Amino acid sequence: MSRKKILHVVGARPNFMKIAPLMAAMAGRSGDFEQFLVHTGQHYDEAMSDVFFRELGLPRPDVNLDVGSGSHAQQTAQVMLRFEPALLEFRPDWVIVPGDVNSTIACALVAAKMEIRVAHLEAGLRSFDRTMPEEINRVLTDHISDALLTPSADGDENLRREGVDGSKIHLVGNIMIDSLVRLLPHAMEREGEARRAVGLGEREPFLLATMHRPSNVDRPENLIEILSALNEIARELPVVMPVHPRTRQRIGEMKFTPAEKLLLAAPLGYLDFLALESKAALVLTDSGGVQEETTFLGIACLTARPNTERPVTISMGTNELVASGCGAIVEAARRKLGRRVESRRPPLWDGRTGERIAELFAGWAR
Ligand code: UD1
Ligand code: UDP
Repeated sequence: MSRKKILHVVGARPNFMKIAPLMAAMAGRSGDFEQFLVHTGQHYDEAMSDVFFRELGLPRPDVNLDVGSGSHAQQTAQVMLRFEPALLEFRPDWVIVPGDVNSTIACALVAAKMEIRVAHLEAGLRSFDRTMPEEINRVLTDHISDALLTPSADGDENLRREGVDGSKIHLVGNIMIDSLVRLLPHAMEREGEARRAVGLGEREPFLLATMHRPSNVDRPENLIEILSALNEIARELPVVMPVHPRTRQRIGEMKFTPAEKLLLAAPLGYLDFLALESKAALVLTDSGGVQEETTFLGIACLTARPNTERPVTISMGTNELVASGCGAIVEAARRKLGRRVESRRPPLWDGRTGERIAELFAGWAR
């Protein structure tokens, strides 16, 4: 049997830690697979892209579409226009798209129209909130994909409820946790360096914050609520916030003076971020991936959003939703800091999702 040609897509920061373990698992079965990697260039800063290639051991992309930033329509359209020639060149049997970013839907749509099979990695997640651009990307990508690789059983249920053919749904586990399991020991060795890089003392307890959802950061009246909460908390406990470029821009446009112990930093590499995440007294975030990683690590997490597409992070005991207002965040942070977290890990979040997917694909006729 000839080798299956698999084309993987990455575009934005949360894609790299999902595709790296899958490519590694498939590379371990080189008799079964020939692999290609396309980077759409949705994220392009050294700290949002290159550092992850180095730390996660991703191969150099075969093509970089260099789409850069733009409105949703511009970015999605540019990815589509530039992805089509890559598909014509590589003629893969499968295109694998991770997550829920604009690159995900754009590449899935081009492939589906060219009758190339699409696998959605991290399928079935739903926030049921169509004001989130990611929700639109998730729903559409799932419904044009031929294989739906889900991280948890709630994903399977959502897809079935929407009428997706059950034979397309495969509960494989959380691929992001594969990267975490492999690199956590390495990250731990860097704890001292990571602390120094952000200005934290050697053993100082701290809160780790990340914010980048448009609903939290694009309007100054919303962003100031969150920043004021962080300033308030920083009077009691140092707060480290590696600032996403979207948020950096918005902070730059407003008048805000961080408290002495609100440590605003550049986006961190995967290892440094993981080192701090695994040692944080509490995490405050609106990131999808960070909700999942804290669940695996058993670290208390507050998610400043009205909903989550990852409800399992709540039922396992680590995560709690909080309104994005200053008072609500400060109150919830004080309450969480005073309590021990009782948590469990969801089934199949075990570091072996990449292997399971490689096994699955190897067994298929084409
Ligand atoms: C994107 C994803 C979001 C994901 C997030 C992860 C969509 C719709 N959104 O949001 O789901 O959670 O990535 O981080 O796909 N910028 C830079 N350098 C970069 C990249 C971006 O400066 O390397 C700035 C640009 O000014 C850009 C802005 O950040 O306009 C937003 O970037 P964009 O990729 O459009 O959306 P994100 O907010 O990063
Ligand atoms: N992350 C990182 N450096 C940072 C912030 C986050 O390496 O400064 C990692 C984090 O550990 C997780 C991923 O980025 O693996 C989550 O990506 P992001 O929050 O950008 O996107 P989302 O998951 O919300 O789509």
